[in-house]
Amino acid sequence: MYNIGIIDKINLKGLEILKKNNKFTYELITDLSKKNLLKKLPEFDGITLRRGKVDSEVLKNCKKLKVISRHGVGYDNVDINFLKKNDIKLLVTDASTSTSPAEHIMFMILSIYKGINMFDDIVRKGEFAKAIHLDINENFELYKKDILIVGFGRIGRKLIKKCLGFDLKVSVFDPYVDDKTIRSFGGIKVSNFNDAIKKTDILSLSVPKNDETYNLITKTEMKLMKKNSIIINASRGGIINEEDLNNALNDKTIFFAGIDVFEHEPPNENNPLLANKRVLLSPHAATFTKECLENMSIETVTNLIDFFEKKIDKSKIVKL
Ligand SMILES: NC(=O)c1ccc[n+]([C@@H]2O[C@H](COP(=O)([O-])OP(=O)(O)OC[C@H]3O[C@@H](n4cnc5c(N)ncnc54)[C@H](O)[C@@H]3O)[C@@H](O)[C@H]2O)c1
Repeated sequence: MYNIGIIDKINLKGLEILKKNNKFTYELITDLSKKNLLKKLPEFDGITLRRGKVDSEVLKNCKKLKVISRHGVGYDNVDINFLKKNDIKLLVTDASTSTSPAEHIMFMILSIYKGINMFDDIVRKGEFAKAIHLDINENFELYKKDILIVGFGRIGRKLIKKCLGFDLKVSVFDPYVDDKTIRSFGGIKVSNFNDAIKKTDILSLSVPKNDETYNLITKTEMKLMKKNSIIINASRGGIINEEDLNNALNDKTIFFAGIDVFEHEPPNENNPLLANKRVLLSPHAATFTKECLENMSIETVTNLIDFFEKKIDKSKIVKL
C-alpha cells in the first residue's frame, strides 16, 4: 500500500481514480505552510504537487518519498538538485496542460488588440452612442502583424496554429529547437533575440523559469522594442522584470502587456502593475478551464499510479 499526499486541492476526477485503486491511500493537504509541509510530507511514498514550496529543508526528512507528480509543467517550486541527489523522480503533465494556456495567450492578444475592456465599460456606462466618435488609434487588426513566440515547447506549438489562423507572421526563438521543426509548424526560426524583439509587434513568452530566463525581459530589451508592441507573459513571473515593465508601459516605451503570472503570487497590494491600465491581468489562470483542470488532475494522478505500477511513460519523467 502506498500513501500519497495530495499537496493542494486538485479536481475531483483525479482523486476518484486514486480512490478506486486499492494499492493507494491518500490525504489531501491544503495547509501549504512550511510548518505543515515539514510535518506531513515524511508520511508519504509519493505526492502530487500543485502549489506549495517543496525545498530541501522540507525534503530532507522525507525518507520514504520516491516521486513527485507535478500538477503542471513548471517545477520552479521544487528543489531539483535535492531530487537528483536522492533519486526522487519528478513527473510532469503533458497533453492536458497546453491547450488552455495557448488559448489564454490568444485571448490576451485579442482582448488587448480589440480594446475589449474599454468597449465593455462604454456599454455598461450607458455611453454606447459615444463609441462612434472615439478616436480609434489603439485597436488593431492581427492580420499580417509579427509575433515572436519565445519557447517552442508544448504551449508554443499549440499557439502557433492559432496565430497562423489569424494570419499573423510567426517567428520563433528557441535555441533548443531546430529550424526544420519550427518550419514544419509554419514558423521562422530566429537566432538573434535582440534583433527579433526589435521587429516584432507581439512578444509571447512560453519558457520555463530558470537562471537563463530569469529577467529575460528588462528595460534594456523593452527599449529595443517597437512603441506599438505588446508583451504576453503566461509562463512564469520573474521572466519579465515587473518594475521595468511598469515603467515601460507608463513612459510608452511599449504599448501594452498581458500578465498572467507574477514574481510573487499573489502579487503584493503595492505591486504597481495592479494599478496600471496598460496591462491586462489574470490570476495565474491560463489553465483555469473545466476541461484543462479535469484533465490535469487525471493526468497528474495517472502519472503517479503509473510510476508505482512501473509503467510510466519515460517522457513524463523530468531529466534532472
Ligand atoms: N500560466 C499558466 O497557468 C501556465 C500553464 C502551463 C504552463 N505554464 C508555464 O509555461 C511555460 C512553458 O510551458 P510548456 O508546456 O510549453 O513547456 P515546455 O517545456 O514544453 O517548453 C518550453 C520551451 O522553452 C524552451 N526554452 C528553454 N529555455 C529557453 C530560452 N532561454 N529561450 C528560449 N526558449 C527556451 C525549451 O527548449 C522548450 O521548447 C512553463 O514555464 C510553464 O511553467 C504556465
